[in-house]
Amino acid sequence: MEKVIAVVSGKGGVGKTLMATNLGVYLAEKGESVVIVDLNLQARGADLALGLASRVVYDLADALSGVCRLRQAAVKSKRFPGLAVIEPPLMKEHVNISPLEIQVLCEKLSQEYRHVILDMAPGAGEAFEGIVSLARRALVVTTQDPISVRACGRVIAAVEKRQVPEGRLLINQVRLSLTDRGFLPAVEEIAQELRLPLCGVLPYDDHIHVAFTNGNPVISRRDTPAGEHMEKILSCFMDPPESAGA
Ligand SMILES: Nc1ncnc2c1ncn2[C@@H]1O[C@H](COP(=O)(O)OP(=O)(O)OP(=O)(O)O)[C@@H](O)[C@H]1O
Ligand SMILES: [Mg+2]
Repeated sequence: MEKVIAVVSGKGGVGKTLMATNLGVYLAEKGESVVIVDLNLQARGADLALGLASRVVYDLADALSGVCRLRQAAVKSKRFPGLAVIEPPLMKEHVNISPLEIQVLCEKLSQEYRHVILDMAPGAGEAFEGIVSLARRALVVTTQDPISVRACGRVIAAVEKRQVPEGRLLINQVRLSLTDRGFLPAVEEIAQELRLPLCGVLPYDDHIHVAFTNGNPVISRRDTPAGEHMEKILSCFMDPPESAGA
């Protein structure tokens, strides 16, 4: 689907929600309508990262089961007009959302929003493939951790198998001092191993962590190094050099 963007990773905790929420704000600040669907059923977090946690009343399961309308489950940001987020349930047990349900959801959301960002749970598998096949773009996130890189290889294989037209790699939480001392693989090595076009390298930065945990996406502060860096990565992801101006 033209409007669907998936943010994916092999391993958890690598920065998918960080990137999905910053991408949402980046697009909303351009005046485009965007909805982030948080699909991490075990550890939802996009609401927190956007400072919207206290405003979530209805969730994705409520919308899918007809307890509420889809619009009621989409929490609109006042700070970033045009941006909304849909969260999975927090405390309900046995929630199982199928790829078909996500497909129908994306079709509906595509009628209302210019971009639909899927903030995925980590890992590959059958359900993952079904969902990622809906996407036109995929942002594949890894850290330098060898376990993350290896798991990322599996996810990239799934993204390629499902023929997502535009897949891009982000290497996150990069620690140059450890790399220089030989404790972590160089980003060039990782990019070569994973063979997916690189849209950026984001250093580990305490400012990013603090902003994330306080619900302040760094992209909204382009006057800071972290904000500036994030903007370059997101603009490269949305408008890669080879297609720029096309
Ligand atoms: N570049 C960075 N610098 C500092 N902290 C970072 C950076 N990227 C991510 N983090 C921190 O790493 C943690 C995990 O980030 P995030 O929740 O985005 O990962 P995730 O891939 O969505 O996790 P999950 O797989 O559980 O959904 C957060 O505490 C976040 O602040
Ligand atoms: Mg997440």
